Amino acid sequence: MTFSDTLLKWYDEHRRNLPWRGLHDAYRVWVSEIILQQTRIDQGIGYYHRFVETFPDIYALATASEDEVLRVWQGLGYYSRARNMHETARNIVANHGGSFPQSSAKLIKLKGIGEYTAAALASIVFNENVPALDGNVYRVLARIFAVPHSIDTSPGKKTFRELAMQLMPDKRPGEFNQALMDFGSMVCKPVNPLCNDCIFQDQCLALQKQSVDKYPVRNIKRKVRERYFNYFLFQTNGPAGEPCFFIQKRTGNDIWKNMYELPLLETSSQLSEEEIFSNPWWKALFPAEKDVLIGKITPPMLHQLTHQRIHARLIHLKISSGDAKILRNRFRLTDNEGFNELPKPRLIEMLVMQADEMPTGTKISDCNIQT
Ligand code: ADE
Repeated sequence: MTFSDTLLKWYDEHRRNLPWRGLHDAYRVWVSEIILQQTRIDQGIGYYHRFVETFPDIYALATASEDEVLRVWQGLGYYSRARNMHETARNIVANHGGSFPQSSAKLIKLKGIGEYTAAALASIVFNENVPALDGNVYRVLARIFAVPHSIDTSPGKKTFRELAMQLMPDKRPGEFNQALMDFGSMVCKPVNPLCNDCIFQDQCLALQKQSVDKYPVRNIKRKVRERYFNYFLFQTNGPAGEPCFFIQKRTGNDIWKNMYELPLLETSSQLSEEEIFSNPWWKALFPAEKDVLIGKITPPMLHQLTHQRIHARLIHLKISSGDAKILRNRFRLTDNEGFNELPKPRLIEMLVMQADEMPTGTKISDCNIQT
């Protein structure tokens, strides 16, 4: 039996039962593939159902507001995926008559569709013979064929693409690609792979060399960027006396673009309380002299993203209506209900929840805040 016969036989018996399997609906397969980038399948399935129930087709997605799209995506992370999907849906409706282009070469031109997604869509939906290489596929091929090249380099990736192309059968390209992915996540797992039950155990060169854990080869260690976020929960009363606080929309080319957060002072190191209240950012907000502040401050909380580690703190202050007037020029006032409706990073949700549980009335700083 050829490699693909062996693999497809395994797939026919063991494939995962996923809600988008067997569909030749480009929209749904696209949604599933974008969600599954950087997301575990068990978490992704719930989001997939929610997404296609809220936006059942490309027209529903194209006509939604960005806030609505980000809201459905909330908690999944990597929010640029959702923004790009929204842009691509609008583009397909405006310029492609509402239908996806039918080749990987054309799909890759759409925003948010890279080499992997273009190949996955083209092979699964349009039967194109093109390999879709995700992390699972690299690992399976690297181990079985003891590929010495790093998957972090372009020549290394090319080697894998060529190898996968040679192994690909003439028929069932989409199932072949998905079989490699399922096999990678169910059998040839990153840690504790099931080598004793493996259909390729007689062929696997890494297993023969007892070096399964050495593959795939990687030669780039990514640096993690440390960031210090001091978030301010400025609490005040709304027009009807209801508890309200200030928020802002993130802009710029950074994490969480277009999502909502609390007023933020970002610093390059952890500041003391005194340093926070003598910082130019604070002084610009409240140029008038202030007395001792009474409020609450959390210890730093770590929030890990792929290439960044956020050290987040919440400074909870009750402010007067005079101070609230000053803040209205810079930030948007909301109550809890209004805030619930808006897309926000999980970190912000956790911090705001935590604010309710903080012990009350801690003295933030003994120093008079002079400006
Ligand atoms: N991971 C991402 N897309 C997948 C698919 N279509 N099948 C299995 N695993 C996947």
